[in-house]
Amino acid sequence: MKFYLKLWIVIMITTTMLPDFLHAQAVPHLQKNGNAQQLIVDGKPYLILGGELHNSSSSNVEYLQPAWNQLKEMNLNTVLTALSWQLIEPEEGNFDFSLVDALLEDAREHDFKLIFLWFGSWKNGLSHYTPSWVKEDQDRFARVRLNSGKATETLSPLSMEARKADAKAFAALMAHLKKVDSKERTVIMMQAQNEVGVIGAARDHSQIANAAFNKQVPTDLIKGLKELKNELQPEMIEYWSKTKYKETGTWPEIFGENHYADEAFMAWNYARYINEVVAAGKAEYNIPMFVNAWIVQPEDTKPGDYPAGGPQSRVHDIWRVGAPDIDLQCPDIYLDNFPEIVNMYHHSWNPLFIPESFSGFEGAANTFYAIGKHAALGYSPFGIDDPVENPSESPLAKAYNVLDQLTPVITEAQAKGTISAFWLTTANNPQTVELGGYTIEASLPKNWRTGETTAEKGYGLVIWKGGDEFILAGSDLNVVFLPKSEGKKMAGFDTIYEGEYIDGKWKPGRLLNGDNIMINYNLSEQAAINRTGTAAKLETEPSVLQVKLYRFE
Ligand code: DGJ
Repeated sequence: MKFYLKLWIVIMITTTMLPDFLHAQAVPHLQKNGNAQQLIVDGKPYLILGGELHNSSSSNVEYLQPAWNQLKEMNLNTVLTALSWQLIEPEEGNFDFSLVDALLEDAREHDFKLIFLWFGSWKNGLSHYTPSWVKEDQDRFARVRLNSGKATETLSPLSMEARKADAKAFAALMAHLKKVDSKERTVIMMQAQNEVGVIGAARDHSQIANAAFNKQVPTDLIKGLKELKNELQPEMIEYWSKTKYKETGTWPEIFGENHYADEAFMAWNYARYINEVVAAGKAEYNIPMFVNAWIVQPEDTKPGDYPAGGPQSRVHDIWRVGAPDIDLQCPDIYLDNFPEIVNMYHHSWNPLFIPESFSGFEGAANTFYAIGKHAALGYSPFGIDDPVENPSESPLAKAYNVLDQLTPVITEAQAKGTISAFWLTTANNPQTVELGGYTIEASLPKNWRTGETTAEKGYGLVIWKGGDEFILAGSDLNVVFLPKSEGKKMAGFDTIYEGEYIDGKWKPGRLLNGDNIMINYNLSEQAAINRTGTAAKLETEPSVLQVKLYRFE
């Protein structure tokens, strides 16, 4: 073949395929960047500064109109909202995506990204969001039955008919989103179902479920668990080790005659079902997809008190094996021990995202902590459309403003592993992290006359820029730097600037000294423990500080 002909063929192939390749690159996706798995939106690492609407708000776009401006004033960049199977497929096979299109239009007009919550077969365990043709046909779409044999309003995850129908509807939705959104990319992730699991019994007692429970545990599950080896969750090890890691037998034979066997059985069946739904959706339009857990509450004594079979950390391994197409297993956190819970959900194979939790000061603290300590993709308080007076003055809005400014700096530090965070209450005050050759201690601020603590809670993140330079951001913390590395033992502040990032560029404000850095004038006592009596002070109003240290002895 002549050289020019070959060249012409190469040019033709590249020019026809390149746009598709670039386009696929631009679709929201997860990417491993150094130490972190990050969500890439419009080609850049993205932090979800989110908020989830009440369950029924997005079923009517007029109802939702007044909320959009409030969400903007609260500095959200992403709105999580429900899409119900009931509204999308009112008659079997007839899809109506007008609501989806209207929501996309409103989100774009207000410059928001969206995460749709697919309320398909299940929402908080139950099946209220299914179309009438599903609700009414209980022969075709089997329901979960309780120990008593009584039926519930929950579709059985063992119903193959339901699984197929849900997967078909979800695939149609994703195909539609590909058509109307793959260029603008307003939708950045999908939540598959909501807080699934059996409520009222530890497992499904329908006929199909009883039959499956007494059959052999699928070999695919055992093979997958064996491959996870030393990554298994403590509860899995606890129960499976008691049967000496038996590989063949029924659920109780492998996991013991206890409720863990019930929960494991349900987890496998929900995972398989939802994986099929997710895979069908991804085959049409492949963006990240996650499930969320109604986590075990302190008063719960057994599965069924909380939804049995949902993606609890205790059955993560089963979900991991059963649902390889699901990208994240996320916790909904309405408890006060946030750091403990996120620690149970963040793994090398499971990046952290919190789709539901608290708003307010607590929400601000949780967001900073999840993003700074666990390289989270983001955070989203529930019921964000509840009317708020002065939304832009809310603690969450102010925290989101700081995180928005810092996003490129934070995501770079997440990848490099040069970021950490503090989440302080009077119960765990002070707190330390090790970073950049320093032990960094954060404590709640004190009244300098009386020594009394002046805030109940504080939060912040710290980024090591290299050498003796750090960025601090947050609220209500005094931060002290104690050298760990060889050399001069004391670290003083050379400079502390407050300021802000505008379009990614640092604009310094005041240079802080004097009362703005002193915390203790008892210098002999301080010097004896290699401290200087100074601290970088994050006041109540969330702020950013650039800190430069120098060493002396
Ligand atoms: C958790 C659910 O996932 C939400 O949809 C909502 O029902 C809240 N609970 C209510 O607090």
